[in-house]
Amino acid sequence: MKMHLDEKIWLFLSFGMIMGFMIFTGYQTFALEMGPPSHKETIDPNNVDKIAPFDNPGVKQIGENEYEVVMTLQIFSFTPNKIEIPAGATVHFTMTSKDVVHGFQVANTNLNAMVMPGHITKITQTFEEPGEYLVLCNEYCGAGHQLMATTITVK
Ligand code: CUA
Repeated sequence: MKMHLDEKIWLFLSFGMIMGFMIFTGYQTFALEMGPPSHKETIDPNNVDKIAPFDNPGVKQIGENEYEVVMTLQIFSFTPNKIEIPAGATVHFTMTSKDVVHGFQVANTNLNAMVMPGHITKITQTFEEPGEYLVLCNEYCGAGHQLMATTITVK
């Protein structure tokens, strides 16, 4: 069977594209650590208040310019409710939900996570620009969903 040169070229190009995408996806996943989360930590959602670190939610300085925010989400609030950090700080958020699925979205950043009961969500962000960052719940969680918001103040 003889193949047209055109056909060979297209075959070569489409195979090349598939390989290209696979290499690019692999690079993002492993080199840039942009893959879906794995090795997820779990927690008993009914005893969040008694389990460290969630027994003491708040903002803690853990390095020269590094902070940890331990946060619980519940209908219809974020704890701690006000967060203040200096500009340029890298913040590690450790979050869980005490009831239903909530969202953690920080306006004007690419911070966006789903926070589920029984699971611990960890996400890191460096806040370079001073300002008031609006934090919203972006998962419908009940009658007060649209009121569930807080702010992160960077100064
Ligand atoms: Cu919490 Cu919507």
